[in-house]
Amino acid sequence: FHVDWDLMTAEKGGYDHFMLKEIHEQPRAYRDTMLGRISEDGKSVVLPELKITPEKLRSINRVHIVACGTAMHAGLVGKNVIESLVRIPVETDVASEYRYRSPIITPDTLVIVVSQSGETADTLAALREAQRCGAPVLAITNVVGSSVAREADDVIITLAGPEIAVASTKAYTSQLIAFYLFGLYWAQTNGTQDEATIVNVLAAMQALPEQVEHVLAQAEVIKQVAESISNHSSLFFIGRGVDYAVAMEGSLKLKEISYIHSEAYAAGELKHGTLALIEEGTPVIALITQEALYEKTLSNIKEVKARGADVLGIVNEGYVHEVARSVDRIFAIPRTLPVLTPALSVVPLQLLSYYASLALGHDVDKPRNLAKSVTVE
Ligand code: AGP
Repeated sequence: FHVDWDLMTAEKGGYDHFMLKEIHEQPRAYRDTMLGRISEDGKSVVLPELKITPEKLRSINRVHIVACGTAMHAGLVGKNVIESLVRIPVETDVASEYRYRSPIITPDTLVIVVSQSGETADTLAALREAQRCGAPVLAITNVVGSSVAREADDVIITLAGPEIAVASTKAYTSQLIAFYLFGLYWAQTNGTQDEATIVNVLAAMQALPEQVEHVLAQAEVIKQVAESISNHSSLFFIGRGVDYAVAMEGSLKLKEISYIHSEAYAAGELKHGTLALIEEGTPVIALITQEALYEKTLSNIKEVKARGADVLGIVNEGYVHEVARSVDRIFAIPRTLPVLTPALSVVPLQLLSYYASLALGHDVDKPRNLAKSVTVE
């Protein structure tokens, strides 16, 4: 009896690639990142690791979220979380731009840097610039002892576990969980949300891991779509609000590992130019998960459909029947609160890029020209 194996295969735990393993580890990563940070009665967030005082938090009047790539996309969702829960203005910036645009940073600005590795040169430089201006810096990172973790004033560690694939998946979703926890903690501190709302969001968060399992169980649907888009040279991701932020992440992931050109567009912006690129058969991935924006997004979907686009709709369970009439294929995500949908809707997009890369025979875990950690500016 002879078994062929090597260390890499063993570490992949039965999956063909690290990326697929990491996509499937997300339910556990969500649970671990929440573990011990929600009070036993489920009524509040506890973040004993934070040194920033409640008084200081109450004095903050603006937030800058700074990061690169996928971590920046988590920051776009973080902007929505903080603005809706705490009602403080937030700007999210690409770290390589931040320092060079003379941002207005004061001691009452909270600068949040987000980095899986904690070693990204541009993010680290932004952190140092913020501290030079006297602003407190909170880091959301996956690596204890990383440069970002050591230099920031406060740190929230995500418990995604080691991420090996260059394409970030579980680190991104764990960053979302960190933003939800911090947003709720801050809302509690500032009294901007009542207890019932906080309890409601926390309950919905705790349901997310099982809901992700449910999404993963439908991977076959996405695999088929991925195989059909792999013949195309260009496609679009569209959405409004946080759906647009998730569309940007879906587009980056697809470019990164399948090398298919794609663009993420705010659905309502298409008619200002980009709609000209839609022709018979152009694949469009449309996210439509936000109840308040539902009618508007649906009418944008109809605009692309009328020009011949081949549309995959990623939709809340509750809307399947209505949206089905206006799209070619549909993928339903379980119902959750609008602010939490990115933690579910990004998963089919991760699978889409994975299976497209696989169909094209690329090296999924190690895409060309890219490194896991970018330590040069
Ligand atoms: C994600 O799939 C990318 N590989 C990349 O955008 C990455 O998120 C970015 O380089 C930032 O890395 P960091 O989180 O380690 O700072």
